[in-house]
Amino acid sequence: DTAYDTILVETRGRVGWITLNRPEALNALNVQLSHDLAAAMTAFDADEGIGAIVLTGSERAFAAGADIKEMEGLHGRDIAVGGRFDAWRAVADVRTPVIAAVAGYALGGGCELAMMCDVILAADTARFGQPEITLGVIPGMGGTQRLVRAVGPYKAAELVLSGRLIAADEAERIGIASRVVPAAELLDEAAALAAGIAEKPLPALYAATAALDAAVETPMAEGLRLEKHLFASLFDTADQKEGMAAFREKRPPRFTHR
Ligand code: CAA
Repeated sequence: DTAYDTILVETRGRVGWITLNRPEALNALNVQLSHDLAAAMTAFDADEGIGAIVLTGSERAFAAGADIKEMEGLHGRDIAVGGRFDAWRAVADVRTPVIAAVAGYALGGGCELAMMCDVILAADTARFGQPEITLGVIPGMGGTQRLVRAVGPYKAAELVLSGRLIAADEAERIGIASRVVPAAELLDEAAALAAGIAEKPLPALYAATAALDAAVETPMAEGLRLEKHLFASLFDTADQKEGMAAFREKRPPRFTHR
């Protein structure tokens, strides 16, 4: 596996693992990390041997936000022009299912990064929040848009306007966390979930993430059209024939991910 400065990357069977690795800054997201993460995610996404990606941090922090020390001196034009945040688009656009395994702080850009993933598995130690307002800014990596879609406008407004941090149980109740597990079991649970997803037929996984993403990005009629198109296209895959034949023959399917 390629070596990166700010992340650790590993392949376990059909699962790609990425661990954010800036312990000195609670995994604060600097520009280098955004480029490393986009490159690693894109490489896994291009690999037919990978059916799921786990993105995790440390016990203390998934990520404590964008790197405040790196941003502090910037002017509006530095961010508006020059594609400083463009790498995050590549991270969000990954079609392989991505599971965020979150322990400790997922704040600001860290919460926004978790929300770019498909599933958010939270340790009971996880704390989510969008504290940007306390720094004189607002979320800038999709937080206002993804949070409203995840939890509704009034809960999102309370979090973005107050900067209040919420614990894992509240995050699960309002719909940021898919599921909460004891911290000691987080990585095992993420591994089991990812392995289960990764053995599913790849064409159907790609279609599912595309359809699910469309649900939050497009009007209903357009989303339904896309779903119908993707559903139809899967009937031209070998894995659909195999999956349905295996059901009829009462045996486990042997997918070729084609
Ligand atoms: N950027 C840069 N460095 C950070 C950081 C960040 N977002 N978060 C933590 N660090 C650094 C700290 O500066 C500290 O470094 P030093 O030891 O060199 O001083 C180290 O990580 C450990 O952090 P603390 O000593 O602060 O640890 P703590 O346990 O006392 O507090 C915390 C933890 C409550 C998470 C606190 O670090 C904190 O409030 N961090 C900032 C959270 C935040 O405001 N995030 C939003 C960032 S803005 C953003 O994300 C914009 C966007 O949407 C794109």
